[in-house]
Amino acid sequence: MRRRLPRSESSRPIGVFDSGIGGLTIVKEIRKILPKEDILYFGDTARLPYGSKSPELIRRYALEDAHFLYERKVKIIVVACHSASSWALSEIRNSFPVPVVGVLEPGAKAALSVSRRKKIGVIGTKATISSGAYERALKERDKDVEIIAKATPLLVPLVEEDFISHPVSKIVCREYLKVFLTEKVDALLLGCTHYPLLRSVIREVLKGKVKVIDAGKETAKEVKRIIEERGIKKSSGRGKLKIYLSDITPEFEKIAQIFLGEKPEVILRASLREITKNPDEGLVKRH
Ligand code: DGL
Repeated sequence: MRRRLPRSESSRPIGVFDSGIGGLTIVKEIRKILPKEDILYFGDTARLPYGSKSPELIRRYALEDAHFLYERKVKIIVVACHSASSWALSEIRNSFPVPVVGVLEPGAKAALSVSRRKKIGVIGTKATISSGAYERALKERDKDVEIIAKATPLLVPLVEEDFISHPVSKIVCREYLKVFLTEKVDALLLGCTHYPLLRSVIREVLKGKVKVIDAGKETAKEVKRIIEERGIKKSSGRGKLKIYLSDITPEFEKIAQIFLGEKPEVILRASLREITKNPDEGLVKRH
């Protein structure tokens, strides 16, 4: 059984981590529906991308990232990175005595609820797609669902280049997404932090024939549901956002605004030495 956090813990921040700044798309959604909550965000900009790394390395990094947040007394950990959610969610859940929310389950649930034909497309990084984690999350809920999964790695740099409505993005999306039209899927899961920014191009390329699901938006709703259910929702004040990055360049600050939709108030540097210090130290194992 999960440990119930005492009521005073409602004032603690929500912890969110990602391989970089893409996870700010989820922070944006959380802030929309939970404006009073303080959020502590960690983006591992020094070690990104995760989407092209091995499962072992993604797991190690993800556990270190979660530990960084846990040490700062967050009341819930949100694994905003799809690559990390795909490979490390259960390890993180087993390692920290706070609720842990990943992006796969909320996204899978939402896709199933809109798909009539039970034919669902999934796009993500190479790591996310090769893990088969979205397939498992969908099949666990409906064994008859048919899934077409495709790695679409070029979409990440396109967003980071601010090519959001650029013709090049349209060409790349057309090439990547044509299979979903041929296969006649009726829902497409955006399985990567960056893809919601390309939503309009994706919708246009799919000619309105496919419902596009933003897993990040669904994750924010799940965070709300969990903190309400556990009685740890903050009830007063305006929520503050503190962003820690393991590397800061002027470029990252600029891109952070694209993802967040506003200028971030506080960006701090997290030392990589601290993040990589003995990851087992201070961990509370849950049995
Ligand atoms: N945040 C990653 C994800 O959602 C995309 C960027 C990366 O590869 O690190 O999978």
